[in-house]
Amino acid sequence: MANRSFVVGVGMTKFEKPGSRDWEYPDMAKEAVGRALADAGVTYDAIEQAYAGSVYGAMGQRALYEVGMSGVPVMTVSNACATGSSALYLARQMVRGGLADCVLALGMEKMQKGSLGAGVGRSSVTIIDHHLRSMAAGRPWEMDKAPMPQMFGNAGREHMEKYGSTPEHYAWIGWKNHKHSVNNPYAQFQTEYSLDDVRNAPMIFDPLTKLQCSPTSDGAAAAVVASERFVDEHGLGDQAVEIAGHHIASDTAASFEDHSSIQVVGSDCTRRAAARALAEAEVAIEDVDVIELHDCFSANELITYEALGMAPLGEGHKLVDAADTTYGGRWVVNPSGGLISKGHPLGATGLAQCAELTWQLRGKADARQVENARVALQHNIGLGSACAVAVYKPAT
Ligand SMILES: CC(C)(COP(=O)(O)OP(=O)(O)OC[C@H]1O[C@@H](n2cnc3c(N)ncnc32)[C@H](O)[C@@H]1OP(=O)(O)O)[C@@H](O)C(=O)NCCC(=O)NCCS
Repeated sequence: MANRSFVVGVGMTKFEKPGSRDWEYPDMAKEAVGRALADAGVTYDAIEQAYAGSVYGAMGQRALYEVGMSGVPVMTVSNACATGSSALYLARQMVRGGLADCVLALGMEKMQKGSLGAGVGRSSVTIIDHHLRSMAAGRPWEMDKAPMPQMFGNAGREHMEKYGSTPEHYAWIGWKNHKHSVNNPYAQFQTEYSLDDVRNAPMIFDPLTKLQCSPTSDGAAAAVVASERFVDEHGLGDQAVEIAGHHIASDTAASFEDHSSIQVVGSDCTRRAAARALAEAEVAIEDVDVIELHDCFSANELITYEALGMAPLGEGHKLVDAADTTYGGRWVVNPSGGLISKGHPLGATGLAQCAELTWQLRGKADARQVENARVALQHNIGLGSACAVAVYKPAT
């Protein structure tokens, strides 16, 4: 029988446009970890192990030496855009397995303006070569377009062709997430746009306009993960949030078999990760109140509604028609503004999602609070592929 695991402290920096703030990754880490430790009411001495995530080469030890040098094991984690959730997953595994009582998970990134390439580092093998090949076999690949918007945009195109969603549905998701971020002081953008602004923004890859794409960002986020014993000994029961289920899925051969863009960008991985995480938490998607979902592009939010079981296959856009994924609807998806408006510093994103959901379940999310939020779900995906789904519940 595995031990229970709890988030007892969270903290993050504001996410910033690259180049707009004079800081390096250790500065970000110090700010985010300092806030998470203060939130938990513990000092760095309490941390028995640390998992620190970054896609672009920030080193965990270097980042944490600004916080403390206690000699504990520090592991740098890299798992594409699911890096932050992967650091959290590993921290939780240690607590679940009874190998530690208090573990730190950190995610951080310093990025550049403009689109991402298809790989990281110097190898000629990109992490998404299977994905690119499979997608290119299914529909023409446009060499002059950036790969990431193209991959997720192709998933949107496939959904429109097969199931009848329209560019309006994708624009609404961009509009919704920007609107949510108005109340999030940590968000890179806090501007409310009209639907027309979103529709008429520069086209990046049809149907995705710029206001439906996550920007590049700088920032960090952190969580302190603890055992039941630690929660009790430190009197943290009132603020602890249980990680009731957490699973990370990778691709199977089926992800590539029929050259479906929807499958290639991770809907199958999401489906499997969600099934495991929800089962572990002993809840159904209908029991969930609030969701932080990996809306790297609006198309991914829509196809993920179906992969999470919020709508039957081919009917995700009906949730948009019913405004069922914003305040007043069935679920509130991305109250933080999501990646589209809060920003997406790759390694930090999963832990920022964890921070938002922790605040939501504590009832401390200020103007973006989802009323009576009791069960929360986090979805964080990295092509290559790592799909993380976590389910959170209040400790008491
Ligand atoms: C959207 C994108 C194509 C825009 O790239 P770009 O136009 O070449 O370059 P920039 O990053 O300089 O953005 C241009 C401007 O648009 C703004 N912008 C970008 N995305 C925005 C968004 N979602 N909302 C509001 N403004 C945005 C930038 O802040 C910048 O503003 P500025 O001119 O005032 O400085 C690029 O940011 C992108 O590819 N994003 C996706 C990143 C990605 O793939 N992440 C991993 C996903 S899994």
